[in-house]
Amino acid sequence: MITIREEFFHDTQAREALLDTCFGPTRFQKTCERLREGRKPADGLALVIEHDGAIVGTVRLWHVSAGPNRPALMLGPIAIDPALQSLGLGGKLMREALSRAAALGHKAVLLVGDAPYYERFGFSAEKTQSLWLPGPYERSRFLALEFEAGSLDGARGLVSATGAVEEKPDLGALVAAAAQGRLPGLRPAA
Ligand SMILES: CC(C)(COP(=O)(O)OP(=O)(O)OC[C@H]1O[C@@H](n2cnc3c(N)ncnc32)[C@H](O)[C@@H]1OP(=O)(O)O)[C@@H](O)C(=O)NCCC(=O)NCCS
Repeated sequence: MITIREEFFHDTQAREALLDTCFGPTRFQKTCERLREGRKPADGLALVIEHDGAIVGTVRLWHVSAGPNRPALMLGPIAIDPALQSLGLGGKLMREALSRAAALGHKAVLLVGDAPYYERFGFSAEKTQSLWLPGPYERSRFLALEFEAGSLDGARGLVSATGAVEEKPDLGALVAAAAQGRLPGLRPAA
């Protein structure tokens, strides 16, 4: 059975393994990664497809500003388990993510991807002509979809990350606490 649901923390490993399989190790060099690194995805917009208990699809959307003071979302990466591609799962996941984003009141979504695939969901390069991304990309693959007509009219400038910053453990503090025996389950070094 196929379920599309929000991602839980315990899905992280399976999601990362799926992304490694689909994109390989160079995925962190993508320009869009500069808009994701160190940030949390938008609330309610990190989705997975579960199939018989396994994670077989992932998509996440991220808060950005499309030029100054122009809130939007950046979609990606989206990936479907290679064994289950071309069965309509990618389309289902895209439509679910877009409908949830619209229901949450977001105005527009940007992405970098193949227009022949994303056009079917309403994406085009029409509204991204005066925007640019923080790194190299093919302009014809920089696409946008407006939920509210005109929400990207006049958008120009650099797309920047605006999502909440991901909390990271303070390694220095952890090491100091462990050395002083203040971490339960860890004895101080002899
Ligand atoms: C892109 C992807 C998410 C689509 O998922 P999917 O479940 O295979 O998609 P669907 O079954 O809904 O749609 C399949 C159709 O899309 C087409 N399609 C898939 N990727 C395409 C692409 N990059 N460009 C054009 N068409 C594409 C297929 O040829 C197929 O066409 P058909 O219906 O005429 O046979 C999936 O192929 C995937 O994970 N690819 C590897 C990762 C990737 O490239 N992600 C997108 C970049 S962010």
